[in-house]
Amino acid sequence: MADRSKHLLLVEDEVHLREAVAEQLADHGYLVQQADSGEAALTCLSDFAFDVLVTDLRLPGIDGSAVVDAARERYPDIVAIVVTGYGTVKHAVEAIKRGASDFVAKPFQIDELLHALDAALEQRRLKSENAYLRAQLEERYRFDAIVGKSRPMARLFKLLESVAATSSTILITGETGTGKEVVARAIHHNSTRRAHQFVALNCSAIPEALLEAELFGHVRGAFTGAVGNRTGRLEQSHKGTLFLDEVGTMSPALQVKLLRVLQEREFERVGDTNTIKVDVRVVAATNSDLRQLVEDGQFREDLFYRLNVIPVALPALRERREDIPLLVQHFLDKFRVGRERAPLSVSQDAMRRLMAYHWPGNVRQLENAIERAVAVSDGRGHIDVTDLLPDVVRQEGPLFPAALSLPDEGLDLDAFVSSIERELIQRSLERTGGNKGQAARLLNLKRTTLVEKLKRLERLP
Ligand SMILES: Nc1ncnc2c1ncn2[C@@H]1O[C@H](COP(=O)(O)OP(=O)(O)OP(=O)(O)O)[C@@H](O)[C@H]1O
Ligand SMILES: [Mg+2]
Repeated sequence: MADRSKHLLLVEDEVHLREAVAEQLADHGYLVQQADSGEAALTCLSDFAFDVLVTDLRLPGIDGSAVVDAARERYPDIVAIVVTGYGTVKHAVEAIKRGASDFVAKPFQIDELLHALDAALEQRRLKSENAYLRAQLEERYRFDAIVGKSRPMARLFKLLESVAATSSTILITGETGTGKEVVARAIHHNSTRRAHQFVALNCSAIPEALLEAELFGHVRGAFTGAVGNRTGRLEQSHKGTLFLDEVGTMSPALQVKLLRVLQEREFERVGDTNTIKVDVRVVAATNSDLRQLVEDGQFREDLFYRLNVIPVALPALRERREDIPLLVQHFLDKFRVGRERAPLSVSQDAMRRLMAYHWPGNVRQLENAIERAVAVSDGRGHIDVTDLLPDVVRQEGPLFPAALSLPDEGLDLDAFVSSIERELIQRSLERTGGNKGQAARLLNLKRTTLVEKLKRLERLP
């Protein structure tokens, strides 16, 4: 039920009726102000931002629809209900066209008016909630919400920028947790369809038998349990974007129907013969190898080509390790929100482990690891190796620098290792202002070992 502690302006020239209605509305929690004419109403409206206006249509002087106009002009969000006398329904319709939410006809029971008010207030609440959510989503899903500066990500951004504006079908591939849904939403919110809906359907999360009705909708009695007509996700995404997640799990029968949608942009609800046309952009995603499924005869080849018009392949996190510090920072900020804590930091040792781990669950797994680390490091404001899960800490092999790669032409291992040794010793000396004892401690060496190494390295070319 809508919240009734609202400021309401009641405009009615018949004094007995006005006072009776005002009293009943007040009994139901409204904060009521009365006006006995259109002129008086306009004065009230210029002094105070009412939530609700209830006005008789026929008033001496300025009439009710002029009051509604004036109110809506000043407060586009105001809820207006008009009260009509016998024979003025035509005017009520007129008032609704001009922005009143509803009307009640005289004589009316107070319940009728209360009901109209509840419905109108609820509708306004939903409307502002939607506007709010949409604004939030747009904020969240601009491309700059996709974190990454590595080369594979730079290539991805370039591709997304050029394809977002089109209506072409897109197939997003990538391991679990690489951000397929984030990218799909970003595409929608950067397209001309952004004012319409982004509708997501996870094909593997819905039982096969229900998926068809979910996608296409159904009419009453189409199958056992189909009690009413229902619009499907496809219709809901009209003029917007339909995101078909895990599209590789679709049954052969449904694959045929989806193919038709992609070719003809039309379909029928389950149990219906009427053909419905839709204008929808399809973005599909999969973490299985669709080509392989085609070869194995589990996925239609023609559908694969219809979906794969623009392939967007997301890199695994281990293929863009240089983005890990950025992502870590992004998630530290995210998990700090609302707790009024100082910014969090991560020790270099912990960061090295994070960068060396192979992240089979990709960004989602990293996000969970950071959330956990923030929780267990409670209060310290600093995340260290001990806050990471053993899996992440227990590395196979040494902790390589992130950018380490083996050139095609090969390399001289001894010389390369020496150059790394020299570099690290130099950095530790720089950091300690040339103090060899402190530099040795930074590298977990004896002072004498550091000095020996220095001498040896100086002899090398
Ligand atoms: N580039 C990125 N920048 C910031 N956050 C990201 C990025 N990629 C993924 N995430 C976050 O990681 C999580 C997983 O992303 P998403 O759900 O899009 O992955 P997915 O590829 O759809 O995974 P699955 O195949 O398991 O469904 C989300 O919380 C998302 O916000
Ligand atoms: Mg997903």
